Amino acid sequence: MSGRLRARVVGVGSYLPARVVTNEELSERLPTSDTWIRERTGIRMRHLAAEGECTSDLATAAAKRALASAGLEAAEVDLLVLATSTPDHTFPATATAVQRKLAMGPAIAFDVQAVCAGFAYALSLAHGLLATRQARRALVIGAETFSRILDWEDRSTCVLFGDGAGALVLEAEEQTGTVLDRGILAVELCADGRHYHHLYVDGGPSSTGTVGHLRMNGREVFRYAVTALTDSAQRVCRKLQLEPDQVDWFVPHQANRRIIEAVARRLGIALERVALTVDRHANTSAASIPLALDELHQSGQLEPGHLVLVSAIGGGFAWGSVLLRW
Ligand code: UT7
Repeated sequence: MSGRLRARVVGVGSYLPARVVTNEELSERLPTSDTWIRERTGIRMRHLAAEGECTSDLATAAAKRALASAGLEAAEVDLLVLATSTPDHTFPATATAVQRKLAMGPAIAFDVQAVCAGFAYALSLAHGLLATRQARRALVIGAETFSRILDWEDRSTCVLFGDGAGALVLEAEEQTGTVLDRGILAVELCADGRHYHHLYVDGGPSSTGTVGHLRMNGREVFRYAVTALTDSAQRVCRKLQLEPDQVDWFVPHQANRRIIEAVARRLGIALERVALTVDRHANTSAASIPLALDELHQSGQLEPGHLVLVSAIGGGFAWGSVLLRW
C-alpha cells in the first residue's frame, strides 16, 4: 500500500477568560431566568473577555498551551490558521497579530471566516496545506470574543454565547494511507447562502461601516442544524466506510444541548461518547470544538488512537465534519 502524508495532532491547548457570568447574573439585568436558559439550551454559565482582552490575546494564550503540550517553540511552526468571526481589526488577519504575539517569525498565516463551522474549515485547510507540502507544522486555532458583537438588550441571543479559544498543533507525517492512520482522515464541508439572513451580524465595513450586532432566527437555525449536522456526519463517515457509532468520540459544535442530543440520537452515538461543554462555555462559535477537545484530552478520556468525529454548523449556513484519529 502506498504511503500518504497526514496532518497528525501533536498538541492541544485552550484558554477561557477569567470572568464567569452565570444565568442568575444575566437574569438580574434581563427578562430571562436560569430555568429558561438551562431548559432550552443546557447553558449554565459562560466566560467573557475582560475589557481590552482581544480575540488575538485569547488565541495566543491557547496557542502557547498547545505548543507547550507539543513540546515545540512557535518558531518551529510554519503555518497558522485562525478561525474567527470576531477579528481584532477588519484587517490585517488576526492570525498575523497572533503570529507577532507568539514571536513566531515568517510563516503562512491567515484567518478563516466560517462562523461556528470555522474550526472544521480551518482543519481542512491546514490538512490540505500540510498534505501538499506547503507547510510542515501548523497551529490551527479557533478564537472568539462574541461578547463584543452581542446585543445585550436582546435576551433571545445574548444569553447563548461566550468567549474563548482553543488550538491544535498539526504535523505532516508520512503514514500508510489506511483508516488506522493517525491524524485527519476525511473532511466534508458545505455552505448554503440561501440561509444567509437567518444568522448574521447587522453591520460590517462594506455595508454599514459599523461593527453591528448578531441577529438570529433561532428556531430556523435549530431545525436546520439538526438535519445538516446529522447528514454531514454520516457523509464523512461513509467516505471511510464507517458507521457513526464506530467513533470513540463525537465532538460537535456546542450551541445547544438539545441540538447535540438530537444529532447524537440520530447518529446512534451514546451520550457517554459525546463531548459536552455547552453548560459551562455556552456557544463560543469557532472555539467550541478545540475547547472541547482540550477538555477531553486534559481529563484523560481522549486517548492516542481514538477515532474522533467533529461536526459544526453556523451562519451562512456553513457546516462541516472532520474525521480524525487522535
Ligand atoms: O452557533 C450557531 C448556531 N446557533 C444555534 O444553533 C442556535 C439554535 N437555536 C436555538 O438554540 C434555540 O432556537 C434557542 C435557544 C435560540 C431558542 O429556543 P426555542 O425553544 O427555539 O425558543 P423560541 O425562540 O421558540 O422562543 C420561545 C419563547 C418566546 O416567547 P413566546 O413567543 O413563546 O412568548 C421567546 O420570546 O421564549 C422566549 N425567549 C426567552 N424567554 C426567557 C427567548 N429568549 C428568552 C430568554 N429568556 N433568554
